[in-house]
Amino acid sequence: MRTAHLTLDPHFTVGAVNRRLFGSFVEHLGRCVYDGIYEPGHPTADADGFREDVIDLVRELGVSTIRYPGGNFVSGFKWEDSVGPRTERPRRLDLAWHSTETNEVGLHEFATWLGKVDSELMLAVNLGTRGVQEALDLLEYSNVGGGTTLSEQRATNGTRDAFGVSMWCLGNEMDGPWQLGHRSAEDYGKLASQTAKAMRQLDPSVELVVCGSSSAHMPTFGLWERTVLEHTYEDVDYISCHAYYEEKNGDLGSFLASAVDMDHFIESVVATADHVKAVLGSSKSINISFDEWNVWYIDRYHEVDKIEGLDNWPVAPRLLEDKYSVADAVVFGSLLISLLNHSDRVTSASLAQLVNVIAPIMTEPGGPAWRQTTFFPFAVTSRLAGGTALRVKLTSDTYATDVYGTVNLVDAAATIDGNDTSVFVVNRSQHEEITLTIDVSAVGSVSWATAETLSDVDFAAANTLENPDRVGLSPNESVVVEGTTVTVTLPPVSWTAITLS
Ligand code: AHR
Repeated sequence: MRTAHLTLDPHFTVGAVNRRLFGSFVEHLGRCVYDGIYEPGHPTADADGFREDVIDLVRELGVSTIRYPGGNFVSGFKWEDSVGPRTERPRRLDLAWHSTETNEVGLHEFATWLGKVDSELMLAVNLGTRGVQEALDLLEYSNVGGGTTLSEQRATNGTRDAFGVSMWCLGNEMDGPWQLGHRSAEDYGKLASQTAKAMRQLDPSVELVVCGSSSAHMPTFGLWERTVLEHTYEDVDYISCHAYYEEKNGDLGSFLASAVDMDHFIESVVATADHVKAVLGSSKSINISFDEWNVWYIDRYHEVDKIEGLDNWPVAPRLLEDKYSVADAVVFGSLLISLLNHSDRVTSASLAQLVNVIAPIMTEPGGPAWRQTTFFPFAVTSRLAGGTALRVKLTSDTYATDVYGTVNLVDAAATIDGNDTSVFVVNRSQHEEITLTIDVSAVGSVSWATAETLSDVDFAAANTLENPDRVGLSPNESVVVEGTTVTVTLPPVSWTAITLS
Protein backbone atom coordinates (compact mmCIF):
# COMPACT_ATOMS: atom_id res chain seq x y z
CA MET A 1 0.00 0.00 0.00
CA ARG A 2 1.36 3.42 -0.99
CA THR A 3 1.11 6.33 1.44
CA ALA A 4 1.06 10.09 1.58
CA HIS A 5 0.97 12.47 4.50
CA LEU A 6 -0.42 15.96 4.77
CA THR A 7 0.01 18.49 7.56
CA LEU A 8 -2.45 21.34 7.87
CA ASP A 9 -1.56 24.40 9.95
CA PRO A 10 -3.69 27.55 9.78
CA HIS A 11 -0.62 29.63 10.62
CA PHE A 12 0.89 28.79 7.24
CA THR A 13 -1.22 30.28 4.50
CA VAL A 14 -0.96 31.00 0.78
CA GLY A 15 -3.59 33.72 0.60
CA ALA A 16 -7.28 34.50 0.46
CA VAL A 17 -9.27 32.44 -2.02
CA ASN A 18 -10.76 34.93 -4.45
CA ARG A 19 -14.22 33.88 -5.72
CA ARG A 20 -13.04 34.91 -9.16
CA LEU A 21 -10.88 31.76 -9.20
CA PHE A 22 -14.11 29.95 -10.12
CA GLY A 23 -14.81 31.87 -13.27
CA SER A 24 -15.58 30.45 -16.69
CA PHE A 25 -15.65 31.52 -20.31
CA VAL A 26 -18.37 31.77 -22.97
CA GLU A 27 -17.09 32.33 -26.50
CA HIS A 28 -19.10 32.69 -29.69
CA LEU A 29 -17.66 29.38 -30.84
CA GLY A 30 -19.45 26.24 -32.02
CA ARG A 31 -22.54 25.53 -29.93
CA CYS A 32 -21.50 27.33 -26.75
CA VAL A 33 -23.99 30.18 -27.20
CA TYR A 34 -26.40 28.96 -29.91
CA ASP A 35 -27.88 25.53 -29.02
CA GLY A 36 -25.96 25.81 -25.75
CA ILE A 37 -27.11 28.53 -23.40
CA TYR A 38 -29.62 29.86 -25.99
CA GLU A 39 -32.17 27.74 -27.83
CA PRO A 40 -35.53 29.53 -28.19
CA GLY A 41 -37.43 26.46 -29.40
CA HIS A 42 -36.27 24.20 -26.57
CA PRO A 43 -38.94 22.85 -24.16
CA THR A 44 -37.12 24.47 -21.21
CA ALA A 45 -36.48 27.82 -22.95
CA ASP A 46 -37.58 30.86 -20.95
CA ALA A 47 -39.20 33.99 -22.42
CA ASP A 48 -35.74 35.22 -23.50
CA GLY A 49 -34.89 31.98 -25.32
CA PHE A 50 -32.42 30.74 -22.71
CA ARG A 51 -32.48 27.09 -21.69
CA GLU A 52 -33.51 26.80 -18.06
CA ASP A 53 -32.01 23.33 -17.71
CA VAL A 54 -28.62 24.89 -18.63
CA ILE A 55 -29.19 27.83 -16.28
CA ASP A 56 -29.81 25.35 -13.43
CA LEU A 57 -26.61 23.44 -14.22
CA VAL A 58 -24.51 26.63 -14.48
CA ARG A 59 -25.83 27.68 -11.07
CA GLU A 60 -25.05 24.25 -9.65
CA LEU A 61 -21.54 24.50 -11.09
CA GLY A 62 -20.98 27.66 -9.05
CA VAL A 63 -19.41 29.94 -11.62
CA SER A 64 -18.33 33.42 -10.51
CA THR A 65 -17.05 35.64 -13.36
CA ILE A 66 -17.67 34.75 -17.01
CA ARG A 67 -15.29 35.96 -19.72
CA TYR A 68 -17.01 36.96 -22.98
CA PRO A 69 -17.21 36.96 -26.06
CA GLY A 70 -13.83 35.33 -26.88
CA GLY A 71 -11.23 33.93 -27.27
CA ASN A 72 -10.01 33.97 -30.82
CA PHE A 73 -13.48 35.16 -31.86
CA VAL A 74 -13.00 38.55 -30.22
CA SER A 75 -10.06 39.46 -32.45
CA GLY A 76 -12.40 39.93 -35.43
CA PHE A 77 -15.50 41.04 -33.51
CA LYS A 78 -17.31 44.34 -33.95
CA TRP A 79 -19.25 44.81 -30.71
CA GLU A 80 -21.64 47.28 -32.42
CA ASP A 81 -22.96 44.38 -34.55
CA SER A 82 -24.26 42.67 -31.42
CA VAL A 83 -26.49 45.47 -30.08
CA GLY A 84 -29.66 47.19 -31.31
CA PRO A 85 -32.76 45.67 -32.92
CA ARG A 86 -32.11 42.00 -33.58
CA THR A 87 -33.66 42.03 -37.03
CA GLU A 88 -31.15 44.67 -38.11
CA ARG A 89 -28.05 42.94 -36.78
CA PRO A 90 -25.60 41.84 -39.48
CA ARG A 91 -24.54 38.27 -40.15
CA ARG A 92 -20.74 38.24 -40.13
CA LEU A 93 -17.96 35.86 -41.00
CA ASP A 94 -16.14 34.60 -37.93
CA LEU A 95 -12.66 34.01 -39.32
CA ALA A 96 -11.36 32.41 -36.13
CA TRP A 97 -13.72 29.43 -36.28
CA HIS A 98 -14.79 29.61 -39.95
CA SER A 99 -18.42 30.10 -38.97
CA THR A 100 -21.24 32.61 -39.44
CA GLU A 101 -22.06 34.84 -36.47
CA THR A 102 -25.72 35.85 -36.59
CA ASN A 103 -25.44 38.27 -33.65
CA GLU A 104 -28.80 37.03 -32.38
CA VAL A 105 -27.21 36.94 -28.94
CA GLY A 106 -25.14 40.00 -28.12
CA LEU A 107 -24.03 42.10 -25.20
CA HIS A 108 -27.51 42.86 -23.81
CA GLU A 109 -28.79 39.31 -24.12
CA PHE A 110 -25.64 37.94 -22.53
CA ALA A 111 -25.88 40.39 -19.63
CA THR A 112 -29.49 39.30 -19.12
CA TRP A 113 -28.41 35.65 -19.04
CA LEU A 114 -25.64 36.46 -16.52
CA GLY A 115 -28.32 37.85 -14.20
CA LYS A 116 -30.12 34.50 -14.40
CA VAL A 117 -26.98 32.50 -13.51
CA ASP A 118 -25.80 35.06 -10.96
CA SER A 119 -22.37 35.62 -12.50
CA GLU A 120 -20.21 38.65 -13.18
CA LEU A 121 -19.41 39.86 -16.71
CA MET A 122 -15.75 40.01 -17.79
CA LEU A 123 -15.36 41.54 -21.25
CA ALA A 124 -12.56 41.22 -23.79
CA VAL A 125 -11.91 44.03 -26.27
CA ASN A 126 -10.75 43.43 -29.83
CA LEU A 127 -7.09 44.42 -30.19
CA GLY A 128 -6.68 42.19 -33.25
CA THR A 129 -8.46 44.09 -36.01
CA ARG A 130 -9.37 47.12 -33.89
CA GLY A 131 -7.77 49.49 -31.40
CA VAL A 132 -8.02 52.20 -28.76
CA GLN A 133 -11.10 54.00 -30.08
CA GLU A 134 -13.28 50.90 -30.35
CA ALA A 135 -12.25 49.79 -26.85
CA LEU A 136 -13.20 53.23 -25.54
CA ASP A 137 -16.54 53.10 -27.34
CA LEU A 138 -17.40 49.74 -25.80
CA LEU A 139 -16.36 50.95 -22.35
CA GLU A 140 -18.49 54.08 -22.71
CA TYR A 141 -21.44 52.02 -23.96
CA SER A 142 -21.06 49.60 -21.04
CA ASN A 143 -20.13 51.74 -18.06
CA VAL A 144 -21.25 55.36 -18.51
CA GLY A 145 -24.62 55.97 -16.82
CA GLY A 146 -26.14 58.21 -19.51
CA GLY A 147 -26.03 61.57 -21.23
CA THR A 148 -23.73 60.60 -24.10
CA THR A 149 -24.65 59.21 -27.47
CA LEU A 150 -23.29 55.74 -26.75
CA SER A 151 -24.68 55.44 -23.22
CA GLU A 152 -28.09 56.67 -24.42
CA GLN A 153 -27.92 54.14 -27.24
CA ARG A 154 -27.57 51.43 -24.58
CA ALA A 155 -30.72 52.75 -22.90
CA THR A 156 -32.57 52.85 -26.24
CA ASN A 157 -31.40 49.28 -26.80
CA GLY A 158 -33.13 48.20 -23.61
CA THR A 159 -30.71 48.67 -20.70
CA ARG A 160 -31.01 51.98 -18.84
CA ASP A 161 -28.49 51.16 -16.08
CA ALA A 162 -24.84 50.82 -17.00
CA PHE A 163 -23.55 47.25 -17.18
CA GLY A 164 -20.77 48.29 -14.78
CA VAL A 165 -18.14 45.91 -16.13
CA SER A 166 -15.10 45.77 -13.90
CA MET A 167 -12.77 43.18 -15.51
CA TRP A 168 -11.51 43.82 -19.07
CA CYS A 169 -9.11 41.76 -21.19
CA LEU A 170 -6.89 43.77 -23.53
CA GLY A 171 -7.29 41.45 -26.51
CA ASN A 172 -6.78 37.70 -26.63
CA GLU A 173 -3.67 35.55 -27.15
CA MET A 174 -1.87 38.26 -29.10
CA ASP A 175 1.33 36.16 -29.00
CA GLY A 176 -0.27 33.45 -31.17
CA PRO A 177 0.39 33.44 -34.93
CA TRP A 178 -3.19 32.10 -35.38
CA GLN A 179 -4.63 35.26 -33.86
CA LEU A 180 -6.14 37.89 -36.15
CA GLY A 181 -3.86 40.90 -35.78
CA HIS A 182 -1.09 38.87 -34.08
CA ARG A 183 1.73 41.19 -33.03
CA SER A 184 5.22 41.16 -31.61
CA ALA A 185 5.52 41.68 -27.84
CA GLU A 186 6.85 45.20 -28.52
CA ASP A 187 3.95 46.18 -30.76
CA TYR A 188 1.32 44.58 -28.57
CA GLY A 189 2.83 46.05 -25.40
CA LYS A 190 2.61 49.56 -26.87
CA LEU A 191 -0.96 49.08 -28.08
CA ALA A 192 -2.07 47.53 -24.78
CA SER A 193 -0.50 50.38 -22.83
CA GLN A 194 -2.23 53.04 -24.96
CA THR A 195 -5.55 51.21 -24.70
CA ALA A 196 -5.23 50.73 -20.94
CA LYS A 197 -4.34 54.39 -20.32
CA ALA A 198 -7.25 55.55 -22.44
CA MET A 199 -9.69 53.17 -20.74
CA ARG A 200 -8.58 54.33 -17.30
CA GLN A 201 -9.00 57.96 -18.40
CA LEU A 202 -12.63 57.10 -19.05
CA ASP A 203 -13.19 54.80 -16.05
CA PRO A 204 -10.35 54.64 -13.49
CA SER A 205 -12.07 51.79 -11.65
CA VAL A 206 -11.63 49.17 -14.38
CA GLU A 207 -9.42 46.14 -13.72
CA LEU A 208 -7.29 45.38 -16.75
CA VAL A 209 -5.78 42.12 -17.94
CA VAL A 210 -2.90 42.25 -20.42
CA CYS A 211 -2.26 39.21 -22.62
CA GLY A 212 0.46 36.87 -21.44
CA SER A 213 1.42 33.72 -23.31
CA SER A 214 -1.03 31.31 -24.92
CA SER A 215 0.91 28.51 -23.23
CA ALA A 216 4.17 28.01 -21.39
CA HIS A 217 5.39 26.20 -24.52
CA MET A 218 5.20 29.16 -26.87
CA PRO A 219 8.64 29.97 -28.31
CA THR A 220 8.30 33.52 -26.97
CA PHE A 221 7.26 32.45 -23.43
CA GLY A 222 8.99 34.49 -20.74
CA LEU A 223 10.36 37.11 -23.07
CA TRP A 224 6.81 37.94 -24.14
CA GLU A 225 5.71 38.55 -20.52
CA ARG A 226 8.79 40.62 -19.76
CA THR A 227 8.49 42.87 -22.81
CA VAL A 228 4.73 43.31 -22.55
CA LEU A 229 4.96 44.17 -18.85
CA GLU A 230 7.83 46.60 -19.45
CA HIS A 231 5.37 48.56 -21.60
CA THR A 232 2.25 48.13 -19.47
CA TYR A 233 3.30 47.52 -15.86
CA GLU A 234 1.71 50.60 -14.30
CA ASP A 235 -1.33 50.46 -16.61
CA VAL A 236 -2.67 46.99 -15.84
CA ASP A 237 -3.63 44.78 -12.89
CA TYR A 238 -3.26 41.28 -14.27
CA ILE A 239 -1.33 39.34 -16.86
CA SER A 240 -3.12 36.36 -18.39
CA CYS A 241 -2.04 32.71 -18.58
CA HIS A 242 -3.68 30.14 -20.85
CA ALA A 243 -3.04 26.39 -20.64
CA TYR A 244 -4.67 23.28 -22.08
CA TYR A 245 -3.61 19.72 -21.34
CA GLU A 246 -4.27 16.42 -23.09
CA GLU A 247 -3.11 12.83 -22.96
CA LYS A 248 -0.56 12.38 -25.73
CA ASN A 249 0.69 9.11 -27.24
CA GLY A 250 -1.14 7.05 -24.63
CA ASP A 251 1.13 8.43 -21.88
CA LEU A 252 -1.41 8.58 -19.06
CA GLY A 253 1.29 8.89 -16.38
CA SER A 254 2.60 12.17 -17.75
CA PHE A 255 -0.91 13.44 -18.46
CA LEU A 256 -1.91 12.84 -14.84
CA ALA A 257 1.04 15.04 -13.81
CA SER A 258 -0.08 18.02 -15.95
CA ALA A 259 -0.42 20.25 -12.89
CA VAL A 260 3.38 20.17 -12.59
CA ASP A 261 3.41 22.20 -15.80
CA MET A 262 0.71 24.56 -14.51
CA ASP A 263 2.67 25.11 -11.25
CA HIS A 264 5.78 25.90 -13.26
CA PHE A 265 3.87 28.19 -15.62
CA ILE A 266 2.40 30.23 -12.76
CA GLU A 267 5.66 30.45 -10.84
CA SER A 268 7.58 31.54 -13.97
CA VAL A 269 5.09 34.30 -14.77
CA VAL A 270 5.12 35.51 -11.15
CA ALA A 271 8.95 35.57 -11.24
CA THR A 272 8.92 37.50 -14.52
CA ALA A 273 6.34 40.02 -13.29
CA ASP A 274 8.30 40.52 -10.07
CA HIS A 275 11.51 40.97 -12.07
CA VAL A 276 9.90 43.78 -14.07
CA LYS A 277 8.59 45.24 -10.80
CA ALA A 278 12.13 45.32 -9.40
CA VAL A 279 13.63 46.81 -12.55
CA LEU A 280 10.96 49.54 -12.67
CA GLY A 281 11.13 50.14 -8.92
CA SER A 282 7.38 49.77 -8.76
CA SER A 283 5.46 49.33 -5.52
CA LYS A 284 2.57 47.36 -6.97
CA SER A 285 2.40 43.70 -7.89
CA ILE A 286 0.82 42.24 -10.99
CA ASN A 287 -1.40 39.22 -10.40
CA ILE A 288 -2.41 36.45 -12.77
CA SER A 289 -5.72 36.03 -14.51
CA PHE A 290 -5.56 32.36 -15.60
CA ASP A 291 -8.34 33.09 -18.02
CA GLU A 292 -8.23 29.91 -20.11
CA TRP A 293 -7.51 26.51 -18.58
CA ASN A 294 -8.82 23.01 -19.19
CA VAL A 295 -8.19 19.61 -20.70
CA TRP A 296 -8.52 19.94 -24.50
CA TYR A 297 -7.82 17.35 -27.22
CA ILE A 298 -6.70 20.04 -29.61
CA ASP A 299 -5.51 17.68 -32.37
CA ARG A 300 -9.10 16.50 -32.84
CA TYR A 301 -10.01 20.07 -33.77
CA HIS A 302 -7.29 20.26 -36.42
CA GLU A 303 -7.83 16.73 -37.75
CA VAL A 304 -11.63 16.31 -37.54
CA ASP A 305 -13.53 19.49 -36.68
CA LYS A 306 -11.79 22.19 -38.69
CA ILE A 307 -14.04 23.88 -41.26
CA GLU A 308 -12.80 25.15 -44.63
CA GLY A 309 -14.22 26.51 -47.89
CA LEU A 310 -15.05 29.96 -49.23
CA ASP A 311 -18.77 29.15 -49.30
CA ASN A 312 -18.92 27.07 -46.16
CA TRP A 313 -19.48 29.17 -43.04
CA PRO A 314 -21.98 27.26 -40.89
CA VAL A 315 -23.93 28.74 -37.98
CA ALA A 316 -23.08 27.14 -34.63
CA PRO A 317 -21.35 24.00 -35.96
CA ARG A 318 -20.29 21.22 -33.61
CA LEU A 319 -16.74 22.24 -32.67
CA LEU A 320 -14.45 21.25 -29.80
CA GLU A 321 -17.10 18.97 -28.29
CA ASP A 322 -14.63 16.93 -26.26
CA LYS A 323 -16.04 14.07 -24.21
CA TYR A 324 -14.29 13.95 -20.84
CA SER A 325 -13.22 10.75 -19.10
CA VAL A 326 -12.57 9.98 -15.45
CA ALA A 327 -8.82 10.48 -16.05
CA ASP A 328 -9.55 13.88 -17.64
CA ALA A 329 -11.57 14.87 -14.56
CA VAL A 330 -8.74 13.84 -12.24
CA VAL A 331 -6.27 15.99 -14.18
CA PHE A 332 -8.85 18.78 -14.20
CA GLY A 333 -9.20 18.49 -10.40
CA SER A 334 -5.42 18.67 -10.06
CA LEU A 335 -5.39 21.90 -12.11
CA LEU A 336 -7.85 23.39 -9.61
CA ILE A 337 -5.47 22.27 -6.84
CA SER A 338 -2.65 24.13 -8.59
CA LEU A 339 -4.77 27.30 -8.84
CA LEU A 340 -5.65 27.10 -5.13
CA ASN A 341 -2.02 26.56 -4.17
CA HIS A 342 -1.16 29.81 -5.96
CA SER A 343 -4.13 31.84 -4.81
CA ASP A 344 -1.86 34.59 -3.48
CA ARG A 345 -1.05 35.55 -7.09
CA VAL A 346 -3.70 33.83 -9.20
CA THR A 347 -6.66 35.93 -8.21
CA SER A 348 -8.86 35.31 -11.24
CA ALA A 349 -9.32 32.28 -13.48
CA SER A 350 -11.70 31.15 -16.21
CA LEU A 351 -12.44 27.55 -17.03
CA ALA A 352 -12.53 27.41 -20.84
CA GLN A 353 -15.31 26.91 -21.64
CA LEU A 354 -18.80 26.47 -20.14
CA VAL A 355 -21.30 24.75 -22.47
CA ASN A 356 -20.69 22.28 -25.34
CA VAL A 357 -17.26 23.67 -26.28
CA ILE A 358 -14.60 21.86 -24.18
CA ALA A 359 -17.20 22.15 -21.48
CA PRO A 360 -18.42 20.70 -18.19
CA ILE A 361 -22.02 21.00 -19.47
CA MET A 362 -23.29 19.41 -22.70
CA THR A 363 -26.62 19.85 -24.45
CA GLU A 364 -28.52 18.26 -27.29
CA PRO A 365 -30.78 20.49 -29.43
CA GLY A 366 -34.36 19.84 -28.33
CA GLY A 367 -32.98 17.28 -25.87
CA PRO A 368 -31.35 17.03 -22.48
CA ALA A 369 -28.40 18.76 -20.84
CA TRP A 370 -25.93 16.76 -18.80
CA ARG A 371 -22.83 16.99 -16.61
CA GLN A 372 -19.48 15.88 -17.98
CA THR A 373 -16.99 14.25 -15.58
CA THR A 374 -15.17 17.57 -15.17
CA PHE A 375 -18.34 19.16 -13.81
CA PHE A 376 -17.89 17.46 -10.44
CA PRO A 377 -14.43 18.65 -9.32
CA PHE A 378 -15.32 22.19 -10.39
CA ALA A 379 -18.71 22.28 -8.63
CA VAL A 380 -17.39 20.80 -5.40
CA THR A 381 -14.23 22.92 -5.27
CA SER A 382 -16.23 26.06 -6.01
CA ARG A 383 -18.69 25.16 -3.24
CA LEU A 384 -16.14 24.14 -0.59
CA ALA A 385 -12.99 26.18 -1.19
CA GLY A 386 -13.34 29.43 0.69
CA GLY A 387 -11.64 31.69 3.17
CA THR A 388 -7.89 31.13 3.04
CA ALA A 389 -5.76 28.64 1.13
CA LEU A 390 -3.29 26.86 3.41
CA ARG A 391 0.33 26.22 2.54
CA VAL A 392 0.06 22.45 2.97
CA LYS A 393 3.05 20.29 3.87
CA LEU A 394 2.81 17.18 1.72
CA THR A 395 5.00 14.11 1.62
CA SER A 396 4.11 11.46 -0.89
CA ASP A 397 5.41 8.40 -2.64
CA THR A 398 6.49 9.25 -6.17
CA TYR A 399 6.44 7.81 -9.69
CA ALA A 400 8.46 8.33 -12.85
CA THR A 401 6.97 10.24 -15.79
CA ASP A 402 8.43 10.66 -19.28
CA VAL A 403 7.58 14.35 -19.47
CA TYR A 404 7.99 15.69 -15.93
CA GLY A 405 10.53 13.31 -14.33
CA THR A 406 9.77 12.15 -10.79
CA VAL A 407 6.39 13.36 -9.58
CA ASN A 408 4.41 12.97 -6.33
CA LEU A 409 1.67 10.36 -6.60
CA VAL A 410 -0.54 12.61 -4.51
CA ASP A 411 -1.20 16.31 -4.92
CA ALA A 412 -3.30 18.37 -2.53
CA ALA A 413 -4.61 21.78 -1.54
CA ALA A 414 -6.58 22.89 1.51
CA THR A 415 -8.65 25.87 2.53
CA ILE A 416 -9.91 27.03 5.91
CA ASP A 417 -13.00 29.13 6.39
CA GLY A 418 -14.04 29.62 10.02
CA ASN A 419 -14.74 26.16 11.40
CA ASP A 420 -14.70 24.49 8.01
CA THR A 421 -11.59 23.02 6.51
CA SER A 422 -11.63 21.47 3.04
CA VAL A 423 -8.95 19.33 1.47
CA PHE A 424 -8.74 18.54 -2.26
CA VAL A 425 -6.55 15.67 -3.32
CA VAL A 426 -5.68 13.52 -6.33
CA ASN A 427 -4.15 10.06 -6.53
CA ARG A 428 -2.18 9.78 -9.78
CA SER A 429 -1.32 6.12 -9.37
CA GLN A 430 -2.84 3.93 -12.09
CA HIS A 431 -2.31 0.78 -10.10
CA GLU A 432 -2.58 1.33 -6.37
CA GLU A 433 -4.77 2.79 -3.70
CA ILE A 434 -3.03 5.31 -1.48
CA THR A 435 -3.61 5.81 2.22
CA LEU A 436 -3.51 9.51 2.97
CA THR A 437 -3.05 10.62 6.58
CA ILE A 438 -3.79 14.23 7.49
CA ASP A 439 -2.33 15.75 10.64
CA VAL A 440 -4.92 18.24 11.86
CA SER A 441 -3.44 18.87 15.33
CA ALA A 442 -2.83 22.55 14.50
CA VAL A 443 -6.35 23.05 13.17
CA GLY A 444 -8.11 22.34 16.48
CA SER A 445 -10.36 19.47 17.37
CA VAL A 446 -11.91 17.83 14.35
CA SER A 447 -15.22 16.23 15.27
CA TRP A 448 -16.12 14.72 11.93
CA ALA A 449 -14.91 14.30 8.38
CA THR A 450 -16.70 13.43 5.16
CA ALA A 451 -15.24 12.71 1.76
CA GLU A 452 -16.52 12.39 -1.81
CA THR A 453 -14.48 10.75 -4.54
CA LEU A 454 -14.57 10.68 -8.31
CA SER A 455 -13.06 7.44 -9.64
CA ASP A 456 -13.92 4.41 -11.73
CA VAL A 457 -12.29 1.09 -12.55
CA ASP A 458 -12.56 2.25 -16.16
CA PHE A 459 -10.44 5.42 -16.33
CA ALA A 460 -11.94 6.12 -19.77
CA ALA A 461 -15.56 6.11 -18.53
CA ALA A 462 -17.50 9.23 -19.50
CA ASN A 463 -20.99 10.71 -19.40
CA THR A 464 -22.77 10.81 -22.75
CA LEU A 465 -26.16 11.62 -24.23
CA GLU A 466 -27.01 7.92 -24.06
CA ASN A 467 -25.59 7.43 -20.57
CA PRO A 468 -25.49 10.85 -18.88
CA ASP A 469 -25.03 9.59 -15.31
CA ARG A 470 -22.37 6.95 -15.91
CA VAL A 471 -19.76 8.85 -13.82
CA GLY A 472 -20.37 10.85 -10.67
CA LEU A 473 -19.20 11.41 -7.14
CA SER A 474 -19.46 8.72 -4.48
CA PRO A 475 -19.20 9.09 -0.72
CA ASN A 476 -15.75 7.87 0.34
CA GLU A 477 -16.63 5.74 3.36
CA SER A 478 -12.99 5.05 4.23
CA VAL A 479 -12.49 8.43 5.91
CA VAL A 480 -11.93 8.21 9.70
CA VAL A 481 -10.94 10.67 12.41
CA GLU A 482 -8.73 9.33 15.19
CA GLY A 483 -7.59 11.99 17.61
CA THR A 484 -5.77 14.55 15.52
CA THR A 485 -5.31 12.36 12.47
CA VAL A 486 -7.70 11.94 9.56
CA THR A 487 -7.13 8.92 7.34
CA VAL A 488 -8.67 8.32 3.92
CA THR A 489 -8.06 5.78 1.17
CA LEU A 490 -7.70 7.19 -2.34
CA PRO A 491 -8.51 4.82 -5.24
CA PRO A 492 -6.22 4.75 -8.30
CA VAL A 493 -6.71 7.72 -10.66
CA SER A 494 -9.08 9.58 -8.39
CA TRP A 495 -10.05 13.04 -7.18
CA THR A 496 -11.36 13.50 -3.63
CA ALA A 497 -12.72 16.36 -1.55
CA ILE A 498 -12.59 15.97 2.24
CA THR A 499 -14.54 18.23 4.57
CA LEU A 500 -13.49 18.56 8.21
CA SER A 501 -15.51 20.29 10.85
O1 AHR B 1 -10.96 28.11 -25.84
C1 AHR B 1 -10.71 27.84 -27.20
C2 AHR B 1 -9.67 28.77 -27.79
O2 AHR B 1 -8.44 28.49 -27.19
C3 AHR B 1 -9.84 30.25 -27.56
O3 AHR B 1 -10.67 30.86 -28.49
C4 AHR B 1 -8.45 30.77 -27.70
O4 AHR B 1 -8.23 31.94 -26.95
C5 AHR B 1 -7.58 29.61 -27.28
O5 AHR B 1 -6.56 29.36 -28.16
